[in-house]
Amino acid sequence: MTSRNSRAAIVTGAARGIGAAVATRLGADGFAVAVLDLDESACTATVDGIVAAGGRAVAVGADVADAAAVEAAVERVAAELGPPTVLVNNAGITRDNLLFKMTEDDWDSVLRVHLRGSFLMSRAAQAHMTNAGWGRIVNLSSTSALGNRGQANYSAAKAGIQGLTKTLAIELGKFGITVNAIAPGFIVTEMTRITAERLGVGFEEFQQARAKETPVPRVGQPDDIAHAVSFFVSVGASYVTGQVLYVAGGPRG
Ligand SMILES: NC(=O)c1ccc[n+]([C@@H]2O[C@H](COP(=O)([O-])OP(=O)(O)OC[C@H]3O[C@@H](n4cnc5c(N)ncnc54)[C@H](O)[C@@H]3O)[C@@H](O)[C@H]2O)c1
Repeated sequence: MTSRNSRAAIVTGAARGIGAAVATRLGADGFAVAVLDLDESACTATVDGIVAAGGRAVAVGADVADAAAVEAAVERVAAELGPPTVLVNNAGITRDNLLFKMTEDDWDSVLRVHLRGSFLMSRAAQAHMTNAGWGRIVNLSSTSALGNRGQANYSAAKAGIQGLTKTLAIELGKFGITVNAIAPGFIVTEMTRITAERLGVGFEEFQQARAKETPVPRVGQPDDIAHAVSFFVSVGASYVTGQVLYVAGGPRG
């Protein structure tokens, strides 16, 4: 097994928000990090931050739902950073609408990025993990997996990610690979800012309302999720697999 410091990690959707915080944390933990997002140039700030802190990182542009782009991206990471044995499937989008207003495109786009994207990235990366006899996959689910008004597409995708996580855990366990999911509650990012905008509520006001209804009376920050990812990918977490961890300031967010 390679030493922890030489391991390469891929974080998808890492140009901003939760993905950027996860990439930064893994860089600080000693991983060489591939900061992957749709637009390679959008990854510069995350990469520069990791490098400035003494870490190693590269920017990779790819659409996680495009099979050829995913294969090429994973091979590029293997060539530039070494075999990617850590994968964080974080890329995501929302296209919220009540069912009667939800278009087929709203449905397909969301399922495509979250579910097809996590499937394709996991399939491409597992070859390197099984070769190494060690690997960690962490998938981003959501409290919306339990149901959320206006999110039929997103909640179906996030519940699907929990099923994907458990099945991959069963299939890949014998290769030293763990697969877990994190289900965040309300985290302050561009995604939740857009939700507030859609609802016609100021972002500050939206956050205060959400904090009030959360048992730990605050909203979540991207670092709250990065901390949980850091645990799941650690060497010591080798007997924890197929789990869904709600990081939501309460049992249900
Ligand atoms: N913010 C929250 O409250 C919250 C709660 C639960 C779950 N999540 C999940 O956490 C993850 C990150 O969310 P965020 O809040 O940081 O969102 P965000 O919108 O700030 O960032 C998402 C990133 O994913 C990238 N992306 C989108 N489609 C892509 C694709 N096809 N290929 C590659 N990259 C793509 C975007 O360009 C963006 O940089 C998502 O999976 C989201 O569903 C977020």
